[in-house]
Amino acid sequence: MSSHSAPVPLTLAADGPLAGSTAVPGDKSISHRSLMLGALAVGETRVTGLLEGEDVLATAAAMRAMGADVVREAAGSWSIHGVGVGGLLQPETALDMGNSGTSTRLLMGLVASHPITATFIGDASLSKRPMGRVIEPLGLMGARFAASPGGRLPLTMTGLCPAVPLEYRLPVASAQVKSAILLAGLNTPGETTVIEPIATRDHSERMLAGFGAAIRVEPGDDGARRITITGEATLRPQTITVPGDPSSAAFPLVAALIVPGSAITIANVGINPTRAGLIGVLQAMGADITLANRRDVGGEPVADLIVRASALTGIEVPPEVAPSMIDEYPILFVAAACAQGTTVMRGLDELRVKESDRIAVMAAGLTACGVTVEELPDGLIVHGRDAIPGGATVAAHLDHRIAMSFAILGLITRAPVTIDDARPIATSFPNFVTMMLALGARQIP
Ligand code: S3P
Repeated sequence: MSSHSAPVPLTLAADGPLAGSTAVPGDKSISHRSLMLGALAVGETRVTGLLEGEDVLATAAAMRAMGADVVREAAGSWSIHGVGVGGLLQPETALDMGNSGTSTRLLMGLVASHPITATFIGDASLSKRPMGRVIEPLGLMGARFAASPGGRLPLTMTGLCPAVPLEYRLPVASAQVKSAILLAGLNTPGETTVIEPIATRDHSERMLAGFGAAIRVEPGDDGARRITITGEATLRPQTITVPGDPSSAAFPLVAALIVPGSAITIANVGINPTRAGLIGVLQAMGADITLANRRDVGGEPVADLIVRASALTGIEVPPEVAPSMIDEYPILFVAAACAQGTTVMRGLDELRVKESDRIAVMAAGLTACGVTVEELPDGLIVHGRDAIPGGATVAAHLDHRIAMSFAILGLITRAPVTIDDARPIATSFPNFVTMMLALGARQIP
């Protein structure tokens, strides 16, 4: 997103049911990792279904800047000729990570065990986000950092080669921190182990194994997972089909549940259990969601979701499910606003350090739309109601998922809801508006 262009407001409405069949863009997490691992393999990796959102394009540009040959051949079809593990080159200019925390933290892991210096910069949202969570373990492996106050971007780091192998217990449930350490471990002699007390998305583990790295996952104490990678690996190039992103599918999914009379199909959605928590939570609230045509696509479970409008009921959402749906809380808050009764969601401290403080920003927007909420330090209580007034302009705070969540809420409010700036949606879901219009929503100019 260009920081020089003007904000682009967005208002969606629905005059009747949503209907039809759709598909969402490729999974963002898998797209980032496809480019990074392809850039470290020797030979040509081919990717189809790659998400061409701004976050993933930032990763592509960074891998090019560090020596890989990354080429877009057709929409979603990319070819990557890697440099081999250990072969990354020093970038000549700062790596612009835009809005993308995943690009930043995973690439910091890669740089940590290469003998190069790199500077990371990002937009106003990314420049507020904590990087100490990766600086600490990567520093223990030998990387050196000069960060902005509070361990933030802009940040310059120098890797160490050979780096020092590490055994590290994650203090926060974060797939980004886990992945940064495993990626650093790829070019580190010996074994690097990450212990995660609570399982987070496991795309890195699956894909590293697919690329031929020696990686094993063992049970640790108290249900923890011990993930060990053997370094100085050689990665074999892969052919990857990226499944549809469940975090993007969540928006049309909730839209179809709350717009009366709707019935839609969302094809080819990833249902990896470390990502699919939202489906079970919505079903527990009374959602009519069928998982049809279950299959495996490139080592990931996938299904077509058949969704029908449903009367939802508030529930207490178990905090343990949070890591498996961490990006889906903003749209779950919207579903909860439309449910009968109260929905209690806790264990969400991490939401405060996403692209925005998603608890505070959602609470403010829902309140402005006439929904009663109670903000907790680590969660939100939403009192569902009929005939939500709406009629507000909501600030998205450079956060794509906030923008899309309020665009969906506006489908059922009595008066329209306007998002002050929809440009961040392009980071993860460039065709969001087009897809919602094709399902029957209407854009108010
Ligand atoms: C991601 C991990 C999650 C998630 C983000 C993508 C990943 O972040 O919120 O959108 O691809 O590893 P955390 O690791 O900070 O929980």
